[in-house]
Amino acid sequence: MTGQPIPVIIDCDTGVDDALALLFAVRHPGLELRAVSCVAGNTFVDQVVLNTLTVLEQAGAPAIPVARGAERPLIEPVRTAHHVHGRDGMGDLGLPAPRRTPADVDAVTLLRREILASPRPVTLIPTAPLTNIALLLRSHPEVTRNIERIVFMGGAVATGNATPVAEFNVWHDPEAAAILLSARVPITMYGLDVFQRVIVPAADVRRLRESSEPGARLAGRLLSHRDPATYQAPSDGLGDASGGLGDAGAVCSVADPEGLTTHRLPVEVNLTPGPARGQTIVDRRPRPGEAELHGEAREQPLLDVGLDVDVDRYVRLYLAAVEGDQCRGTRG
Ligand code: RIB
Ligand code: CA
Repeated sequence: MTGQPIPVIIDCDTGVDDALALLFAVRHPGLELRAVSCVAGNTFVDQVVLNTLTVLEQAGAPAIPVARGAERPLIEPVRTAHHVHGRDGMGDLGLPAPRRTPADVDAVTLLRREILASPRPVTLIPTAPLTNIALLLRSHPEVTRNIERIVFMGGAVATGNATPVAEFNVWHDPEAAAILLSARVPITMYGLDVFQRVIVPAADVRRLRESSEPGARLAGRLLSHRDPATYQAPSDGLGDASGGLGDAGAVCSVADPEGLTTHRLPVEVNLTPGPARGQTIVDRRPRPGEAELHGEAREQPLLDVGLDVDVDRYVRLYLAAVEGDQCRGTRG
């Protein structure tokens, strides 16, 4: 690693894989985690705050400010993902309650303060529904002057997960996602197409689980979490111990952008009611279509859309940072 660490802020709904993302962000020497803002998504926002503080404590992180944000999307009600992330939203691991309390300011206030106070432009990494970010951009548009770029986990070029076409974070608050896309800063979309591919092999997960170091051990336990709705334990009792990095992959792409292949493409969020609500419509056509030829096309924001990922590179990067052995990373 060369140069100064990249100042980053994570906006999350911790969340099994948000927890993996936080562990990586506090341990990678190329990143300086300045603050964490919490939003309702995988679980209710008060539980997100508790989970976030717990992870930071288990990671032995310094007192990074954590703030409570929006308790529901701009328009929709909260629709949690407890069926995926467990009753506590973070895998029901039975971790001790945090000793720390959150900041005495709300998430938007903390985000504004930390972005503007940073001596170098901040990279903002939302790994959750985009409600806090939309409120920030609408309340304090001046923050964009000190945002280097936004790398968000959300959306999908191909298949959705919340619906056949919509990814959870965008589906949960589509209006907020549309506001994010209109921000006049460079935006990278780390969508399901790459999100679902970065899997840590079983042997590495087992080693992490057996680590004597609490942060690495927590990573192993989080990677072992299974979606109870879809997971069927194999009859041999051994099971597949591999585990996905999920949101943590988005943070890897900030630490090591060369591991993510992006294309600059027009993206629009479908806001209409019905089966396509929350879909990110990514225009990959190689040439103008009928609407363009007839002067009927609307201008869409151009995003750097993640289309391919170097899985092995990000797995090694993650393990090197979380296990504290930079020799095995790609940048260490
Ligand atoms: O759709 C993927 C998102 O949902 C990620 O943010 C992950 O945390 C999951 O809850
Ligand atoms: Ca998340």
